[in-house]
Amino acid sequence: FSLKPFNTFGVEASARYFSEVNSVEELTEALKFSNAQTLPLLFIGGGSNILLTKDFDGLAIHLNLRGISEEIIDENQVLVTAKAGENWHQFVMYCLEKNYGGLENLSLIPGNVGTSPMQNIGAYGTEIKDVFESCKVLNLQNFEIEILNSEQCRFGYRDSIFKQEGKGKYVILEVTFRLTRKEHKIDVEYGAIKSELENLGINNPTIQDVSKAVIRIRQSKLPDPKVIGNAGSFFKNPTIALSQFEVLKQTFENIPGYPNGDLVKVPAGWLIEQDGWKGKQIGSVASHKLQALVIINATGNATGKEIFDFSSEIINSVKGKFGIELEREVNII
Ligand code: EPU
Repeated sequence: FSLKPFNTFGVEASARYFSEVNSVEELTEALKFSNAQTLPLLFIGGGSNILLTKDFDGLAIHLNLRGISEEIIDENQVLVTAKAGENWHQFVMYCLEKNYGGLENLSLIPGNVGTSPMQNIGAYGTEIKDVFESCKVLNLQNFEIEILNSEQCRFGYRDSIFKQEGKGKYVILEVTFRLTRKEHKIDVEYGAIKSELENLGINNPTIQDVSKAVIRIRQSKLPDPKVIGNAGSFFKNPTIALSQFEVLKQTFENIPGYPNGDLVKVPAGWLIEQDGWKGKQIGSVASHKLQALVIINATGNATGKEIFDFSSEIINSVKGKFGIELEREVNII
């Protein structure tokens, strides 16, 4: 069964078995089948954060649980719950139409609601942990349904329990967000949003304006996966010691860094660009010409292995130049 339509890199890889599930019951059925056959499992949501490097000798389950519901808490708060298979951006648009605030900075992020907590998706000053209330999960060890709150999810930068000790232990079934109905917290601190709003001539932005600005910024430099295969940022922005940053600054005067205590976060896109990789293509794979951190399937014919090898070359090269080891953000299968 071809998984090409189910990964935004658009690479060809097949799964021995495939099942699309539309309900918890169907999911349980599929899991019973995999248990009986002792098959390895691969859960696929929007496919926007995976790189398939080979065929999968197991059962791939496409989670297609759909539905959005809400519970008004008081005049300013609402809890909105979306099932895992809802498309993230459509969900954000749904909330904005109802004038529910909190997700506007996260407009146009590819993928589905169900995978958003895994890497604590974030952009333009907001991470989902800022508005996350809880998620409903199926525990794969005992088949019980559990509710995890924000603390239990252990969110960090592009990180959560689902990438650490809970890896492979849970399937996320739905996610609940605590959003505002009236007193919206408009966050336009991120430089790019400020200047985009200025370009648009907007002084007192609404949440809808913020979303519009974010969409314009993303469209201006991030390739649309429907047109050019990619999985957004391929690497995490590395965090290094302040002392190491100061040493680097002696050689690379312009190195950008965002200090946080004794640590400094350095934009991986800058390191990759300075190392000469921006826009560079090897075979079918390239670093995007407008955002070096994004690796693209330039010809549409790249294999997962080629993309992986290209990323290894970048890691080695950046390590050689700056002594910083980039970590992949995309899940390698
Ligand atoms: N930069 C370069 N060259 C590049 C790209 C970036 O020099 O080719 C430098 C610039 O100094 C720029 C800085 O990097 O000021 C930051 O760039 P940008 O605002 O594009 O953000 P980013 O750090 O590259 C992160 C997220 C993105 C998110 C943006 C906006 C990670 C791994 N990536 O990228 O998330 O949209 O911030 O908040 O944290 C994703 O995860 O898929 C993703 C797209």
